[in-house]
Amino acid sequence: MNQEIRIKTKHFYVVLVILGFLLIYSLSSSRDCDENNQALEDPEFVAEREAFLPNQKGPTIYAITPTYSRPVQKAELTRLSQVIRLVPNVFWVLVEDADHNTDLVANLISRSGLQERSVQLFAKTPTNMKLQGKDPNWLKPRGVEQRNKALDWIRKHLAESGGRDRHSVIYFMDDDNTYSTDLFIEMSKIERNKVGVWPVGLVGGLMVEKPVLNRDGIVLGFNSAWRPERPFPFDMAGFAISSDLILDNPQAQFSYEVERGYQESELLRHLTIVHEMQPLANKCTDVLVWHTRTEAPKLDAEKLLIKSGKRSDDGLEV
Ligand code: UGA
Ligand code: MN
Repeated sequence: MNQEIRIKTKHFYVVLVILGFLLIYSLSSSRDCDENNQALEDPEFVAEREAFLPNQKGPTIYAITPTYSRPVQKAELTRLSQVIRLVPNVFWVLVEDADHNTDLVANLISRSGLQERSVQLFAKTPTNMKLQGKDPNWLKPRGVEQRNKALDWIRKHLAESGGRDRHSVIYFMDDDNTYSTDLFIEMSKIERNKVGVWPVGLVGGLMVEKPVLNRDGIVLGFNSAWRPERPFPFDMAGFAISSDLILDNPQAQFSYEVERGYQESELLRHLTIVHEMQPLANKCTDVLVWHTRTEAPKLDAEKLLIKSGKRSDDGLEV
């Protein structure tokens, strides 16, 4: 009988100890929670988080993307759409090099949830200006027709929506480059009547092509190795433009008439001079965009399959 009581008492203590542990654990974890919440509200943490998130209140950035049909098109546009989704003040102006809008691009826009902040346009490059099969990519300018179409659309859109009073920014966002979300935070700092500039990685035969500043932070020129004699010797990915410059200078556009590598200069000569450009990206020391180029995939087996009347992507959008 005594032994039975002793066993019961022992059980009672074991249960008590377990309950005690559970109580201490639950109290300490709720305190952790509170501490976390407090940490989340810590002004320093809030500032850090907000600095990390793209500026939601910034000017609208019209990102102009010329794009054309090829096996990697959907992959390229998927990468771009996912950057744009992360930056709420970007409006995507997609211009297809085609004589009509395609389902592939329309599907991509709707699947990425960007219908409300994008427009799908088309402008076909004239056949005599289009690169043919084995042409080297530098033989003819790319994106001329499409970017001009986008500039027309933006000028009209801003005029109709009272955009003259509202400051916005225009950026040429090619479909194959690699963009950091931070780049758009930098662009949001572009002032009225200014062209913002920053370094571009992996372009012009260099690791980085960048504006050269003097001690007062004025742009003196560029470190370009390729055709440094150009008035603006740097890549399309390295600048963005305040909308009032685009509205005030309707003659500013791209042209087939200029030498290779002169598209940037052709547009910018109407808008600014080098010394007046606004250096961004930490006084032009941060690289936030890379002029990557996607290798054309080898599709030999696919070609054989097509010859035999089949294809691997039958009924699929790749
Ligand atoms: C370099 C620059 O980065 C471009 O901004 C510039 O337009 C080009 O040189 C030039 O001098 O014309 P690169 O990488 O050689 O660019 O050119 P791509 O990326 O092949 O083409 C630029 C844009 O035009 C891309 O968005 C591409 O999708 C589009 N494109 C290209 C077309 O719409 N149609 C084409 O037939 C080819
Ligand atoms: Mn490119």
